[in-house]
Amino acid sequence: MTTPGERLDAIRRIELATLPTPLEQAPRLAAHLGLSRLLIKRDDRTGLALGGNKTRKLEFIFPEVLERNCDVVVTVGGAQSNHAAMTAAAARRLGLEVKLVLGGRDFAEPMGNVLLDLLLGAEIRFLVDDDDNDALAAEMARWTDELRRAGRRPYALPIGGSTGAGALGYVRAARELAQQLGPAAAGPLQLVTAVGSCGTLAGLLLGARLFLPGARVIGISVSRAAGAIARRTAEIAAESAALLGLGTPFAEDQVECRDEYAEGYGVVTAAGKEAIRDAAASEGLLLDPTYTGKAMAGLFDLARRGEIDRAVPTVFLHTGGLPILLASGAAFGDSAAVTRIR
Ligand SMILES: Cc1ncc(COP(=O)(O)O)c(C=O)c1O
Repeated sequence: MTTPGERLDAIRRIELATLPTPLEQAPRLAAHLGLSRLLIKRDDRTGLALGGNKTRKLEFIFPEVLERNCDVVVTVGGAQSNHAAMTAAAARRLGLEVKLVLGGRDFAEPMGNVLLDLLLGAEIRFLVDDDDNDALAAEMARWTDELRRAGRRPYALPIGGSTGAGALGYVRAARELAQQLGPAAAGPLQLVTAVGSCGTLAGLLLGARLFLPGARVIGISVSRAAGAIARRTAEIAAESAALLGLGTPFAEDQVECRDEYAEGYGVVTAAGKEAIRDAAASEGLLLDPTYTGKAMAGLFDLARRGEIDRAVPTVFLHTGGLPILLASGAAFGDSAAVTRIR
């Protein structure tokens, strides 16, 4: 009988990430929140573009792209999609072309991930003022058809790389975290992550069942309602479990997700800004306003209201997003610390 871990290792994966990512203590931030122990799992340092959670997913997605002999990858996301830029970097590293359907607020000059997309040679179709997932998916389907008619071999990658195969990256991440925690992996633990397209949460929850039996995994939504997230997370996890030869790992009512810190996709929240400033000031840790800043704002609030156990170790998954931070100067331009000398 093979174990789920052995079955995970038997699934094809292309090495794209720098692993293991560091697991760092954050004692000053822990003290700020009244937590006994806070650790940061640095998945912002996976590599590919400027790093982030997508790299682990892409390791399990690109084998199929190559097996199908595709020559161009088409994917979708918001204007500042980390997934899009990281997919572009992975595609280039493997010698493939990349086409991106992005949508959202129009831009005057390319910044953040859009700049990376262009440097990585991606061709972009931009839906001005429209980041609706269905509209993005419809445009991706149109473009993929056009490419096929022109004799190309496109691979259409769904938003966020959140497929059953992609989420296996976070089953592996849970095992990596368990190895780093040592004996503490068997005990109680709180694990907090940002949630967008749900693949990361799905993989972590499934991985926690296998490798971190005492973990409570808390997803902090960056956009959608908690009910929709729970449904999608359970669906993806069931697909991932099937790939590992396992039955349905959990029902949607077992997914813990908080949606009160989102205020809409890409909206810069006051609580998110506070969390970004405090993490930077206390630990030199850089978060972004769309994903990790909101997740940290959720952790701040849950800690302050006693909704997480202060005595139990907490792990914050840093899922990346640095390019977004670097494109968010306007939201942080109220700094009083600049003295201009002419
Ligand atoms: C920085 C960052 N954090 C978190 C997430 C959310 O991950 P997922 O889409 O797997 O829920 C994303 C995905 O877009 C992201 O780019």
